Amino acid sequence: MKKILILIFIFIFSNAFSQIPEYKNGVVSSAQELASQVGIEILKNGGNAIDAAVGVGFALAVVYPQAGNIGGGGFMVIHFPNGMNTSIDYREKAPLLANKNMYLDNAGNVIEDLSTLGHLAAGVPGSVAGMLYALDKYGTLSRADVLKYAISYAENGFIINARFASALNENSKEFNKFNGSSKLFGHHYKAGDLFIQKELANTLKTIRDNGKDGFYKGWVADLIVTEMKNGNGIISYNDLENYNAVERDVVKGTYRGYEIISMGPPASGGICLIYLLNILENYNLKDYGFGSVENVHLMTEAMRRVFADRSEFMGDADFVNVPMESLISKKYALKQMWNYDTKFATNSKDVKPGDPYYKEHDHTTHYSVADKFGNLVSTTTTLNDNFGSKVVVDGAGFLLNDEMDDFSSKPGVPNMFGLLGSEANSISPGKRMLSSMTPTIITKDNQPFLVLGSPGGGKIISSVLETIVNIIDYGFVLRTAIELPRFHHQWYPDVLQVEENMMLKMNYRELKNMGYDIKQVSEFGRIDAIMFLPNGSMTGYSDSRGYGKAIGY
Ligand code: DON
Repeated sequence: MKKILILIFIFIFSNAFSQIPEYKNGVVSSAQELASQVGIEILKNGGNAIDAAVGVGFALAVVYPQAGNIGGGGFMVIHFPNGMNTSIDYREKAPLLANKNMYLDNAGNVIEDLSTLGHLAAGVPGSVAGMLYALDKYGTLSRADVLKYAISYAENGFIINARFASALNENSKEFNKFNGSSKLFGHHYKAGDLFIQKELANTLKTIRDNGKDGFYKGWVADLIVTEMKNGNGIISYNDLENYNAVERDVVKGTYRGYEIISMGPPASGGICLIYLLNILENYNLKDYGFGSVENVHLMTEAMRRVFADRSEFMGDADFVNVPMESLISKKYALKQMWNYDTKFATNSKDVKPGDPYYKEHDHTTHYSVADKFGNLVSTTTTLNDNFGSKVVVDGAGFLLNDEMDDFSSKPGVPNMFGLLGSEANSISPGKRMLSSMTPTIITKDNQPFLVLGSPGGGKIISSVLETIVNIIDYGFVLRTAIELPRFHHQWYPDVLQVEENMMLKMNYRELKNMGYDIKQVSEFGRIDAIMFLPNGSMTGYSDSRGYGKAIGY
């Protein structure tokens, strides 16, 4: 009976009567239709996927300022037609005046909201440096060619939809608290209003004309530093001048014959995803069936163990030693499941971070782009919270991030996403805070297969993992794989978080009997993905949990 119900639910989620369009030349999937359209225009004008991704990134800063940004940071994973891969790290850095205890009061307690709201919450922005690095090195078009769309949407405005209006209105109190004269974000809006951002248009024009220096030096830098002085923030000229994006090796793993290519530190996403897949590879998920108790139990126990290690060992590898080789090794994954019991939930108290040194002594948004040349780009970027710190740089019209909250303000005290951290992710001047972002590319026999990523804090990792498993193990088409309900466990709190829906609810009684504390949570993750079909064409899908759109041609 339960199996039949599950099949009915899958049928509903798969939206089985609508066509999935297939494309030959390129696909862009992003959180906002106008931004996806920008990417397609750039591809049609002869640009490659990197040009398109940069154009989409700047466009999102205008039409999706909840998370699209020039005042935040992100990661870009690129796969080239010759089989090579690379990644660009433009994660924010702690300002040089930051210190380990900056969010603690005299008694050593974390001061509420200090790392999430206002000027002190902002890390040194990385997006402009990172996107322009990608464009200069791997793009083929000029800055003017890729930035013109974003400039036009900022200058002439775009029509606000209902979801964007409510996102703006929900945060208006905080916008007004932190922004004196810049009232653009503090107003009350309704669907159909025109949203014009003149100051942001000027900032984008100076980036177009002067490149990285247009943001990190000159009048934009002056305005950032003045904003900081007025709001007791600490980002200085020195921080801005010294900010650099870093090109890094990708992290790689395999899963049932597929190659997994993802982002390494300071993102934890790539390591966690490969570690999770390495665990799952030892079990025959296909036999369990999607949505079964066995499936949820196994995947939850894997998450519990991986998130324990995340909290202990992961941080900016430029500052701390992250035992990467062990964490993504098949052997380590096997070993960490030693106390997994198929009948009972493990208590998180009994799961200690492992010993990965044993051998080795030693509101966010994602977009995916594919072009007709075989370039694939997987980018996740963020201000952290919706609209970041809620601080708009007066005169420059863009929002600053509150990424400092991704550091561990104090060991044992959870951050905004309930994630714990240790010394590996403590605050240090110039250090990058640990991220859960997981921009990922999957190939099979060196041929493109899947490009995906998601927002969602720690739940990014589970959202990406479950989408992959839904496709590789359960054989669902892209849309179904993305739409099916999700669950998440992150070691602490020792709670199985399940999206509110009827489908997984059928398992509650059994899971509770096994010892799980289950909490229904609102929907999480917004996957934007591209999948390659056996006939060589591609298809894209933007999670209906958001209001984005995949467009191809
Ligand atoms: O880098 C991170 O892990 C977080 N700043 C991501 C924040 C996020 O996904 C918020 N969106 N829901």
